[in-house]
Amino acid sequence: MSTSINWDLLHQEARAIMSKAYAPYSQFPVGVAGLVNDGRIVRGCNVENASYGMTLCAECGMISDLIASGGGKLIAVVCVDGSGNFLSPCGRCRQLLFEHGGKDMLLMTPDGPSPMSTILPWAFGPEDLK
Ligand code: THU
Repeated sequence: MSTSINWDLLHQEARAIMSKAYAPYSQFPVGVAGLVNDGRIVRGCNVENASYGMTLCAECGMISDLIASGGGKLIAVVCVDGSGNFLSPCGRCRQLLFEHGGKDMLLMTPDGPSPMSTILPWAFGPEDLK
């Protein structure tokens, strides 16, 4: 099933969920929205903890939403900071995105959409376990 990518909508959804972030320690809210191959949009925001290392990145929440709402493959993702600017996902979250988006998933960057094969080159993933 081919799904066209409405980047403006994804950006809007990422900013909306960013406003729900729980980031009292860093004061650095993050929001992320992803288009699934069946047309759904899934979202996540960061959730911090008094035990700092337990912080859940926004991408973790989005992947949880993806799986809990029926699974599927991520086609396109927009991640934003508190100003709504495109944010570079941390290393751990790139691995999460690769697991559920593969090398062709597109991530919006300040230079435009970029495939995961560029965001996380020579990635370790499900295929390596076969
Ligand atoms: N953060 C994310 O939610 N995703 C990322 O990819 C980068 C960092 C959050 C974690 C923490 O709550 C805050 O940003 C500052 O590091």
